[in-house]
Amino acid sequence: MVSKVTIKAPSSTANLGPGFDVFGLALDAFYDTITLTKTEKGITIITDDLIPTNPENNTAGLVVKNMKKKFRIKKGVEISIKKGVPAGFGMGSSAASAAATAVAFDKLFGLKLDNNSLVEYAGSGEKASAGTIHYDNVAASVLGGFVIVKTEPLEVIRINPPTDLRMCIAVPKIDVPKKKTKVSRGVIPKKIRMEDSVLNLSNAASIVAGFMSRDVELIGNSIKDVIVEPARHHMIPGFMKVKANAIRAGALGVTISGAGPSVIAFSKNSADLEKICRAMSKGFADVNTKCQTVICKPSKGAIK
Ligand code: HSE
Repeated sequence: MVSKVTIKAPSSTANLGPGFDVFGLALDAFYDTITLTKTEKGITIITDDLIPTNPENNTAGLVVKNMKKKFRIKKGVEISIKKGVPAGFGMGSSAASAAATAVAFDKLFGLKLDNNSLVEYAGSGEKASAGTIHYDNVAASVLGGFVIVKTEPLEVIRINPPTDLRMCIAVPKIDVPKKKTKVSRGVIPKKIRMEDSVLNLSNAASIVAGFMSRDVELIGNSIKDVIVEPARHHMIPGFMKVKANAIRAGALGVTISGAGPSVIAFSKNSADLEKICRAMSKGFADVNTKCQTVICKPSKGAIK
């Protein structure tokens, strides 16, 4: 009988511009590692990272609590968490922990859940950090590749990304609010103009077509969001400059990664990716902000 399971789940970028709460892409930039061990009773969390260790306030803790309840599992679970995805920067940090936990729990107790159920349980952990459940990051982190989240009922569609797709990410070193995702969801307009909806829809549809036809240029050229990005970018110092610099350096499309503040540029592997990173760093430096840059490609998910 299995008594211990370790799973690694990747970072992810959500939205990809116009696909707010619908699109996600798993990224090989960072990984969280979760080990679940069966114990006599209760839920305990062990970690060296600065994250809540009360299961109610911890993404992984919430996933275990919800799954234990749903499957009437009396055994206890010890959760060991090793964070690799920086928390609060729009890289799907809480989702990576939640995804790895749901997949590990499934294996530990031999549940054999289908992909949609794994994503659903992983999503229940997002509530700990975002306040609401959204599945874009967890779906990408569980399944890997590019994902489209269809809701009510939840159904995740996964597409294999083109092999020549590359991303340059600039993670600014700024203080982020404690409940950052909740805060940045609060600035999104409640009502939108029809023209804006049409523009975003046409770009979102083109991104899907780009992934299906493995066309990096179509994906990159369609990373345009006239609804959420304009409402959020004031939260990222120098955003417009960083974006303009990246485009000038050869990026095909640039937007906020998830709820920010990281900025993500989409390119082909043939582009000068180091140059794009330098251009993004320069944009942040112009507003006296340091940043870490990462060049990455799509990742497999926690289920492999
Ligand atoms: N789609 C979510 C948002 C992702 O943009 O608020 C947050 O991780």
